[in-house]
Amino acid sequence: MNKLPKLSFVILMTVIVGGCQQGTKTNKEEIQTAVSIPDPVQFKDTINGEEISLFTIKNEKGMEVALTNFGARVVSLIVPDKDGVNRDVVLGFNKAADYNNPGEAYFGPIVGPFGNRIANGKFSLDGVEYTLPQNNGPNTLHGGLEGLHFVVWKTQQLSDQAVEFTCLLPDGKEGFPGNREFKVVYSVNDENELAIAYEGKTDKKTVLNLTNHAYFNLNGEGSGTILNHQLQLFADKITPVDETLIPTGELKEVKGTAFDFTESKDIGKDIEQDDEQLKFGKGYDHNFVLSGTKHNGYNYASRLIGDQSGIIMDIYTEEPGIQFYSGNFMADKVTLKNGATDSFRSGLCLEPQHFPDSPNHPSFPSTEVNPGEVYKTTSVYRFSTK
Ligand code: GLA
Repeated sequence: MNKLPKLSFVILMTVIVGGCQQGTKTNKEEIQTAVSIPDPVQFKDTINGEEISLFTIKNEKGMEVALTNFGARVVSLIVPDKDGVNRDVVLGFNKAADYNNPGEAYFGPIVGPFGNRIANGKFSLDGVEYTLPQNNGPNTLHGGLEGLHFVVWKTQQLSDQAVEFTCLLPDGKEGFPGNREFKVVYSVNDENELAIAYEGKTDKKTVLNLTNHAYFNLNGEGSGTILNHQLQLFADKITPVDETLIPTGELKEVKGTAFDFTESKDIGKDIEQDDEQLKFGKGYDHNFVLSGTKHNGYNYASRLIGDQSGIIMDIYTEEPGIQFYSGNFMADKVTLKNGATDSFRSGLCLEPQHFPDSPNHPSFPSTEVNPGEVYKTTSVYRFSTK
């Protein structure tokens, strides 16, 4: 629809912002703030013979989220900054085909059936050992090579504010047990909240750990590193890892370490500290154990603030942990929506989830799901400004 009115609005806003703030904004900044969602025509495609499209949900407050059914993925997330100018705070691509890249597979999708790592591609349930693809050194990452991020999901646009994605994974797919049914609903409300509600069912005992793997830059995609973003994590402990990023099983206090985000601080402040955990992760790539600070019945997980935009993102979740990944493997390998490349630490992931490698750690909160049970979890991303 109305590409033209939208475009002229963007141009108008650019002129107004440029006009009001002459001398304080560079031309580059004006271009970055003039955002709109990608052209849906570029998402009319087929992958593995199945149809891909772009879907949008939006509210009355200027929040707009573009999604594609390839990986049930967030393509764009547009919110107003402190001056009321829209910024796209999620990294992604302009066309469906660019997402079909096994080398850079995790821009915005649902990851699962088991997000994060499983040690040595093995786990056991009731004495039966399951073997998975080892797609990350010796380990399995994000459900293997063909996890949920590479599934073409069925879509139902529920309303202007909600989209539902569903899919099936057959028993044995990527080594995991159970014929499994998944449902993920993305919805926005007029509080500038994006909710992601996940559901899963299985006909055989299995393990599930679903999350979303959006890369955020709250100053806007392509606006430099996230090192000056301020982050607060409502977590007193992490699950420290070995050199392959598998938890040792221990819970480690963050107090007095580079991992202490209990008070808001710049992400770059301690990231270069001489710390074994930071070396293993090449920066932050760790699961933080949420302390249980409550907000409307959810765990308050994190508060992230874009230093240039004043955009605040709060994450509330039903999950017990959050993986904070500071974009340490980003290396100018792909070109993003606005023409920038995915440069080192130009995005970060905050992934509400159960702890990595839970199936091999009986002391961690369980990720097992039995037939007849419904796996259900919701995470909420709330946007405001300061
Ligand atoms: C997760 C992992 C990281 C990295 C990214 C994808 O967040 O924890 O180590 O693999 O996915 O690049």
